[in-house]
Amino acid sequence: MFSTLRPKIDTLLANPAGTTDDKLQTICDLLKDTVPYYDWVGFYFKNGDKDELKLGPYAGAPTDHVIIPFGKGICGQVAVSDQNFVVPDVQAQDNYIACSISVKAEIVVPLFVNGINIGQIDIDSDTPDPFTEADERFLEFVNERVAKLLTKG
Ligand code: SME
Repeated sequence: MFSTLRPKIDTLLANPAGTTDDKLQTICDLLKDTVPYYDWVGFYFKNGDKDELKLGPYAGAPTDHVIIPFGKGICGQVAVSDQNFVVPDVQAQDNYIACSISVKAEIVVPLFVNGINIGQIDIDSDTPDPFTEADERFLEFVNERVAKLLTKG
């Protein structure tokens, strides 16, 4: 599954047509539609010079959590830790922001541009404990490619 997704990501990012947000939206839709246990897929980015994240393109149910302060929830923790955060069971987390009661697990992978953590990809799953290292490696790949797109302007 991930081996077929990687070339698709490369192809869609190589297309000169479309805005950056269009491409990020296509990635969100592609991932949500292809990976059975990806039920919500979205990008958050640092909001200007504020210590908070702002929701970018996403696929799945709308969320109230458009702004997330650094340190809050799984996303806010990744904004300050610079580390992948894999949560097999969201109920077991104290510092967690619930978006939907159906969500059982979450993975957040930071997005670095020139070594600086400027955002993240966030996946929610309605399946308990679905994420493996294959998801981490794949989402790191997605973020590396998105970082290249963002630096091209
Ligand atoms: N659950 C996240 C909030 C964002 S939603 O999953 C879309 C968190 O704890 O940071």
